[in-house]
Amino acid sequence: MTQPQPSAPSDVRPAEQTLVILKPDAVRRALIGEILRRIEAKGYTLVAAELRSPDRAVLAQHYAEHEGKPFYEPLLDFMSSVPVLVAVVAGQRVVEGIRALAGPTDPTTAPPGSIRGDLGRDWGGRVTENLVHGSDSPASAAREIGLWFPAL
Ligand code: RTP
Ligand code: MG
Repeated sequence: MTQPQPSAPSDVRPAEQTLVILKPDAVRRALIGEILRRIEAKGYTLVAAELRSPDRAVLAQHYAEHEGKPFYEPLLDFMSSVPVLVAVVAGQRVVEGIRALAGPTDPTTAPPGSIRGDLGRDWGGRVTENLVHGSDSPASAAREIGLWFPAL
């Protein structure tokens, strides 16, 4: 007779989804496992995850809101410097939850306990390296998931 298998808790209501990118600094510094560990330990679920070398056109669409800013071209150069891990993560209020796990943009002052605060710092480059992207609203999440994972 087979024993019932333990199962992870699951969302009571349909789960929200967000787009997460582990940026080139996370990949280069071999922090993929550590960052995914934090996301999983929080209780969120990976729906999709893939290492990608994105076209500049995809990056331009992803960061369209920043076009024209001084860090825009360095940001696109940085994001295409090595493959990135692109993921869809699900759970109740996951958009704000991932933003809280990541911490604010500047890793120097991001609070300890956050991904950027614990693992990031200023390396003196032309663009802020802060390890992880998370969609900033449910509307951004829908747009970004459509861009990176059109089949989902
Ligand atoms: P993200 O979109 O990557 O999740 O980051 P965020 O919302 O915290 O920050 P955002 O203002 O959307 O900026 C996008 C990314 O551009 C780089 N950045 N560099 N002054 C700078 O050097 C500068 N400002 C922004 C960062 O990689 C930031 O995450
Ligand atoms: Mg942003």
